Amino acid sequence: MRHSTLHLHTAFVVDRVDPRVFGGFLEHLGRAVYEGVYDPESPHADEHGCRRDVLDALRELRFTAMRYPGGNFVSGYHWLDAVGPKETRPRTRDLAWQSIETNQFGPNEFLALCQRMDWTPMLAVNLGTGTPEEARNWLEYCNIEGGSRWADLRREHGFEQPWGVRLWCLGNEMDGPWQIGHVPAEVYAVNAQQTANMMRMCDPNLELVACGSCAVEMPTYLVWDRTVLAHCRDSIDYLSVHRYVGNEADDTANFLAVSNSIDRQIEATDAVCAEVHHALRMKKRVRISFDEWNVWYKARGPEHHDGRGKVAPHLLEEVYNLEDALVAAEFLNSFIRHADSVKIANLAQIVNVIAPILTDGDRMVRQTIFHPIAMMAKRRNGVSLRTSIEGPVYESKDYGSVPYVDASAILNGNQLSVFAVNRSVDRPLELAVRVGDRSVAEVLSAEIVAGSDPKEANTFDDPDRIAARPFEGACAKSGAALFAMPPLSFVAATLRLD
Ligand code: AHR
Repeated sequence: MRHSTLHLHTAFVVDRVDPRVFGGFLEHLGRAVYEGVYDPESPHADEHGCRRDVLDALRELRFTAMRYPGGNFVSGYHWLDAVGPKETRPRTRDLAWQSIETNQFGPNEFLALCQRMDWTPMLAVNLGTGTPEEARNWLEYCNIEGGSRWADLRREHGFEQPWGVRLWCLGNEMDGPWQIGHVPAEVYAVNAQQTANMMRMCDPNLELVACGSCAVEMPTYLVWDRTVLAHCRDSIDYLSVHRYVGNEADDTANFLAVSNSIDRQIEATDAVCAEVHHALRMKKRVRISFDEWNVWYKARGPEHHDGRGKVAPHLLEEVYNLEDALVAAEFLNSFIRHADSVKIANLAQIVNVIAPILTDGDRMVRQTIFHPIAMMAKRRNGVSLRTSIEGPVYESKDYGSVPYVDASAILNGNQLSVFAVNRSVDRPLELAVRVGDRSVAEVLSAEIVAGSDPKEANTFDDPDRIAARPFEGACAKSGAALFAMPPLSFVAATLRLD
């Protein structure tokens, strides 16, 4: 048995964990919207045409900020096509995913869904083929009470009350050559800043996210970010970060070390934000919106990206296994550890497309990644504590040396929630949780996700192979908590401190 200790102290607070770190992302892509959340023909459909079974499962994930309508899709999207009477909405060709968009689900349907689901809407404007003015018009449509063209149009469409959308993304992944309307950083920065200014002239009460580098592999990684920050200055509140990871080399130990690299990505982006802030004497300190994250490598490549002119084609339908679930927990651990810089994060995506939920006709399955996210989301309130792991480490192929344990901790009054992954593929580990200034009185609740095969996945016929189970291996002893963790496992536990 390996032994590690997680050292904590209640005075060593990183920051409050922003609930928006438990956000999601719904894009018009594949079967995410149609056959995913919206399917009026389904026997599960509610009076709004949304699938009850899917929405019930999404409720378990307690999403906060919900990003919409893309993604790459947004860079060719015109919001006006998707409002008003459904029978007059055009069918449009989506070039990003080579699909047909029926526009039967649009901004008003999405915003009404957000109200029913208690999600904070996070709308992305089109800065690919769209203009600053089109973005401003959409904002007026959403947020202004009435008395002017676009606000009155919303009322004509049957929505008397403004939606009050505060959180907006200025385009999507504009640094990527695949993006419709991709331009150099200097051009995007001018466009984003003009858009931000026009939007704020219409409604000053906004939080705006500018596009940062969309991948660490980009040749303009961090250089793009510096240019955007320096030009947009105080016009923006957040810079976006995206990250998709995979186990292409089929090396589980290496894959499970990837959180090292996620930590470094956050710290590097935050360092650029800090540098520009001080050098340019900016008023605002721009923080990170990690608005796309997930494991994504199996359903990747041309055959998964090309919708062949269909409505709701099967695209990016990644099947998740145990090791992917552990990496999903590591992503969230990293965001919690960096609670002072990461204020928003969106799981990409929520249903069918690289998602925790898959549908097939009337059936639905919770994928492996669903479970750690649900276990952490219900324990997310509080402040993040600094973590220090004492114990054995291993050398990974790509991400340097990592402890066998990946962990984070949230303190809420006298309740301490601890999240820990045992990265070992073959050895159990005893984790002691010690809080320097307090003693652990009891374990209030604990769950585990574990399995012996890193490739084990859930299927429609066997949907609960990998699921959250009650964890009997946690106890309070001599002022500490002890977790007897099997190999390849993730534990979420809430402890009472004396
Ligand atoms: O989430 C899938 C795609 O990944 C998004 O559309 C894009 O922003 C990213 O490249």
